[in-house]
This record gives sequence, C-alpha cells and structure tokens, in this order.
Amino acid sequence: MKKILVAGAGGQIGTELIPALRQIYGTDNVVATDIREDASQFFTDGGPFELLDALDGEKTRNLIKKYNIDTVFNMVALLSAVGEKNPMLSWKVNMGALINLLELSKELNLSLFTPSSIGAFGESTPHDNTPQDTIQRPGSIYGVTKVAGELLCDYYFNKYGVDTRGVRLPGIISNVALPGGGTTDYAVDIFYEAIKCKKYTANLKPGTYLDMMYMPDATKATVELMEANPDKLIHRNCFNVAAMSFDPEGIAMEIRKHIPEFQLSYEIDDVRQAIANSWPNKMDDTCAREEWGWKPDWDLPKMTVDMLAVLNRKLNSCDCDCGDAGKCCGKNN
Ligand code: SER
Repeated sequence: MKKILVAGAGGQIGTELIPALRQIYGTDNVVATDIREDASQFFTDGGPFELLDALDGEKTRNLIKKYNIDTVFNMVALLSAVGEKNPMLSWKVNMGALINLLELSKELNLSLFTPSSIGAFGESTPHDNTPQDTIQRPGSIYGVTKVAGELLCDYYFNKYGVDTRGVRLPGIISNVALPGGGTTDYAVDIFYEAIKCKKYTANLKPGTYLDMMYMPDATKATVELMEANPDKLIHRNCFNVAAMSFDPEGIAMEIRKHIPEFQLSYEIDDVRQAIANSWPNKMDDTCAREEWGWKPDWDLPKMTVDMLAVLNRKLNSCDCDCGDAGKCCGKNN
C-alpha cells in the first residue's frame, strides 16, 4: 500500500484528490499538507493533516520520514492569471516546491507526481489537436514554470532514475474549493452564478475554446498514471489528457438546457484573454490513451447535470447579494 503525502492539499484539486486517495489507499495512509491552517476544514475524516510550506525542505523531509512516505503529489502552484500579477512569486513558489520535492525524491527514493497544464503551450503551438510532442513557448510565467517543471522532472528521471510522472491538465471544473486566479476559472464561476443569479458576465470572448475537465476525471488521471506500469511510459512528464473543449457560448448553451432564462454577457479581462488565446483549443491525448489507458468519464452535458445538482444543494443556504453578478454566488460557502 502506498504511503502518500500531498503538498498543497487545500487547493482546488487537492481538496478532492485527498478523499479520492484516502478511499483507495486508506485514510491514515494519505497525509494532507498545506501552508494554510484553514485548509484543514476540507478534511473532516480524521486523516492526518500537517501545516507545511513546501518551500521548507527540512520540514518536508521530517514529515516524509515521520509518516514513512513513498509517494508525493505536488499540487503546489500559483495559477496563470495571478502569476502575471507577481511573476517572481510565481517562479519562487512553483519552482521552489518542485525542486525541493525532486531533491527529496532523489534522496529518499520517492515517486513524485507533478501536474503540468495546458499553460505549458504558447502562441506558436498548433492550437487544434495539439500534439503530445510539439512547440512549447508559453507567454505566461505560469507556463514558463510548467515547461521548466516538465523538463526538470524528465531530468531527474533520466539522470537519477527518480520515478517522476505528470499530466498536462486542462482547466478543472469542480464544486468543492474554488480555483484561485486561473484563466479557466470562468467555467467554474458560471455555474455558481447561473444558479444564484440566472446570469453571468464572462471574462473571455465568445469563440475562446479551451480544454476543460471535470474534477473526477482529473483525480482519475492522477491516480491511474501513478498506478501505471512504468515500463509502458514513454512520456512520463507530461501527458496531454483531454475530456471536453468549449467556449463561453458552448457552456452557456448547455446550462440553458436546465435554466432556460440564463443570460450570458461579456466583460473581457485582457490578461486572461491573451493567455487563453495562446493556449490549445483542444489537445490530442492519444499517447496517454495508448501508454496507460487514459479515458475520460465526463463530457459537457453529463458534467453540467452533476455540477448544477451539487451546487443547487450547496448554495441552498447561500445569502450573498445577487445585485452584482460579478461578485455574488456562493463564494463564501
Ligand atoms: N486552470 C489553470 C489556469 O487557468 C490552467 O492550468 O491557470
């Protein structure tokens, strides 16, 4: 049985990865760690939670030894839009956590999962059916850290034999913790506001197609890649994984099937729009399918039904003010 430590467990993905991992590997075998004490609120099953700044190598080593960890999931990252506000902090956090964990993986013989992203591609990348191996010249600091991360993970595997693995995640749509400052956040926000206000102001233009994925598929990809037979993995760092691709009009149309009066308007965020324009419309994930059997379970219609059902329950008690469509809708829940 794996003994797992998740760094950055209080983020959008970590909050749902922890329960998924605990269900498979046992509650006590999955240690949730985060820099923020309030992250512990997400984990109420009595499993281990530790305060950890993943940039603190010594404390990380102590925790790995204390819990006899053999596998680490590195979910620490500043996302793309927030990264543009503070590029140096983005570099420091994203690269600092990774290099610490790579060094500890080398020293303590750990397996290490690190997600990359659609953000690892750039303007000169082919945007349609983006190949696994192609031009990667991202224009955002987030993308720069993701490409550097992919290369570093390959380097530690090739030079030291460290078992590094990763996927290039699309925008993740989820209903537990909100994403923090990404370019694809609108695809989460739109569900909250559709339920509360029946209207939404998108910050990306119509026609901005991006790869997206429902959280259960993101956790499935993460777990399955770490369980995959290493002999079969040609592309360890990092696999394109795709599930659905849509633009703001496409998701609005799907929501209207359930909330017919839903209205979509636009107020473009230039920083996010420039980033989104440089990212793929849709990735080709053939290598993931062939090398470790990747197959998504969720498409846009199925996800929309589930998101609306879950959020309807969650927002039932929400008392935020719907006068401002940009600010309301369950963000305090
Ligand atoms: N969801 C991320 C972002 O928008 C992409 O990986 O920054």
